[in-house]
Amino acid sequence: MNVLDVLQATTVYFKKRDVENPRLNAEHLLAHVLGRKRIELYLEFEHELTESELAPLRALVKRRGEGEPLQHLLGTVEFCGHVFLCDKRAMVPRPETEELVELLISDFKSQISNSRIVDVGTGSGAIALSLAMKFPEAEVLAVDISDDALALARENAVMLNVPDRVCFVKSNLLESVEGPFGLIVANLPYISTQERHALSREVLHDPEIALFASARGDELVRELIAEAPSRLQPGGRLALEIGIGQGEALLSALAERNYRDIYSKTDYSGVTRFLFARYG
Ligand SMILES: C[S@@+](CC[C@H](N)C(=O)[O-])C[C@H]1O[C@@H](n2cnc3c(N)ncnc32)[C@H](O)[C@@H]1O
Repeated sequence: MNVLDVLQATTVYFKKRDVENPRLNAEHLLAHVLGRKRIELYLEFEHELTESELAPLRALVKRRGEGEPLQHLLGTVEFCGHVFLCDKRAMVPRPETEELVELLISDFKSQISNSRIVDVGTGSGAIALSLAMKFPEAEVLAVDISDDALALARENAVMLNVPDRVCFVKSNLLESVEGPFGLIVANLPYISTQERHALSREVLHDPEIALFASARGDELVRELIAEAPSRLQPGGRLALEIGIGQGEALLSALAERNYRDIYSKTDYSGVTRFLFARYG
């Protein structure tokens, strides 16, 4: 079989297995096995594949068909233009979270570029490391309650050449962290345990602790809203990624806690996804 045959056959197989973007997934996996860039496959459609190339591809295709996330099979994910290691130790970083980082960079650059920043629930380190790379003058802390996530985030810091720029702390929210910070940013678990049945096979490969808060879904975000004022410098900012339908109640929670300049922003699909506020 040549490259084109394999891509076509894999695409058909993925379609049958309800894999989203079947052709794209096929291309990523084949490029990974061949050690090529995806785009390079287009120059090699006629290339005949050897059995030693096909065997590992078959194994990956089977796993993808069974619902393993593409990013776990590749071992990497692109986030804000950087390649991060990605495996089952932490949540696969999502495009919505890239939007959050882009908003922070575009809207708050002058206030956060040389301040203290803490990323609460850092997972793979996506937010903390992206901000550390963007703002060399900032002091960045990355906090998580999961040892596994912190281990992966540390590996990412080494891979991205910022191991000395980010301090990793095991902490339940901000419990073990001292302020004051100019920015507290968090993409905490925000799915309610009742929503489990609605999640895709892929999402269920993320660690439980990264997905589920509690019965309502917004409990951890509310706890952070309550804790953050004691760790923010006067006028410091809180930036949150939240779940679908949680915006209104959480905006009220911010107002009740006397935050100011409170507002929300939607993600590219029009969902109210990000909340921003200042304190003091
Ligand atoms: C939704 S994931 C987000 C990971 C990463 N920030 C991202 O955007 O890709 C939430 C993270 O919060 C962590 N977490 C859950 N409960 C926590 C807590 N009480 N304190 C600190 N981190 C927590 C999880 O381990 C997980 O890594």
